[in-house]
Amino acid sequence: MKSLLFTPMDLRSVRIRNRIVVAPMLTYAAQNGYVQDMHTVHYGKLAYGGAGLVMVESTKGDPCGASTPADLGIWKDEFLPGLTRIASTIKSYGAVAGIQLGHSGRKARRSIPWEGRAPLASHPGLDHGEEWELVAPSEIAHSNSFSTPRALSVSDIERLLDGYQAAVERVMKAGFDVLEIHAAHGYLIHQFLSPNANQRTDQYGGTPEKRMRFGLEVIERVRQHWPEEKPLFIRISAIDEAGWTVEESAAFAKELKKRGVDVVDCSSGGITGGSIVSSERPAQYGYQVPLAEQVRKLADIKTMAVGLIIHADQAEEILQTGKADLIAIGREMLNNPNWPMDAASKLGIENPFSMVPPLYQFFLGKRAEADFGGHSSTWQVGIDAE
Ligand SMILES: Cc1cc2nc3c(=O)[nH]c(=O)nc-3n(C[C@H](O)[C@H](O)[C@H](O)COP(=O)(O)O)c2cc1C
Repeated sequence: MKSLLFTPMDLRSVRIRNRIVVAPMLTYAAQNGYVQDMHTVHYGKLAYGGAGLVMVESTKGDPCGASTPADLGIWKDEFLPGLTRIASTIKSYGAVAGIQLGHSGRKARRSIPWEGRAPLASHPGLDHGEEWELVAPSEIAHSNSFSTPRALSVSDIERLLDGYQAAVERVMKAGFDVLEIHAAHGYLIHQFLSPNANQRTDQYGGTPEKRMRFGLEVIERVRQHWPEEKPLFIRISAIDEAGWTVEESAAFAKELKKRGVDVVDCSSGGITGGSIVSSERPAQYGYQVPLAEQVRKLADIKTMAVGLIIHADQAEEILQTGKADLIAIGREMLNNPNWPMDAASKLGIENPFSMVPPLYQFFLGKRAEADFGGHSSTWQVGIDAE
């Protein structure tokens, strides 16, 4: 059986060397929005390990959208040298460089996870005139531990769309080839989609079509300014805790497809409660794969599966059974940044080290020829199971 995990994928004119994607993950390492050495090392290491596409964390085109003071910014040109360094490092190791654009809306302005995600009043890194104001579709706080946001006016929404446009232009200048819009996890676009956060009575609230309007306008604006030959992804919460259904997601996905979205990255939750990866939300092995499968079937669009995908054979099975087109891996990549190379060995791919730089390719290839005395040559299993 031919591996699909290791079959390249062409999206518009971008070739991804395999179907393995590093899921977007905030590193909480930016200083005043700026890229630090840690980012280049971290993203370079993930590209070096053989991933097809490395998706850089949720990066903010508007300072008000920053979740924490340690989020990456793209709201001004001064951020470009650092972002360009990340993109070129990823590409130099053969992976496609992608970036996610996010806006946290009413969930913005908190301290970083290991400092308790506490509400904050100010951002130490903002220049004079830049504000860190909580904004959302309606004046409804995310929960008791969050402050109440200001409801966006229609002219604020117009300015936000201009902000997305400016961010897309910078993403292009920085050299990224895949762009993902973050519309999941209870952040701004999801807030517009959900009646839990959106109780507007104008053209942006009320019926499902009106609640989808902001998200679709973002995609329209982004697609107008993101080159035709480059793929556009969106991450959605395909279901959430406040009653959003997979059928609604599929209806949204059909509209997104008409507007030039290539891949729907199917996550879930986040419109109420704490972090989507907290222990209050215990998850199971592959828990979101059925969402990717349903959106793919109902909306006839490519999907990316994510969430506790740990093993090579698990990832391969998801693709072989037509549940998704791409596999995103988050925390397991933090555990093992060489996951793709390791997965290739485990799946018996010929020349499994071909995707990593020559140093690794040469010496690990030679080592694989050694006599392992019946033990596995890969790190997870020392003694073959009976
Ligand atoms: C530290 C951390 C940061 C994250 N940051 C983002 C983010 O910036 N954007 C996003 O859409 N999801 C983010 N997520 C969610 C992951 O992309 C992923 O969907 C989630 O971790 C489940 O996949 P996993 O089980 O493979 O880790 C983050 C998760 C973690 C653990």
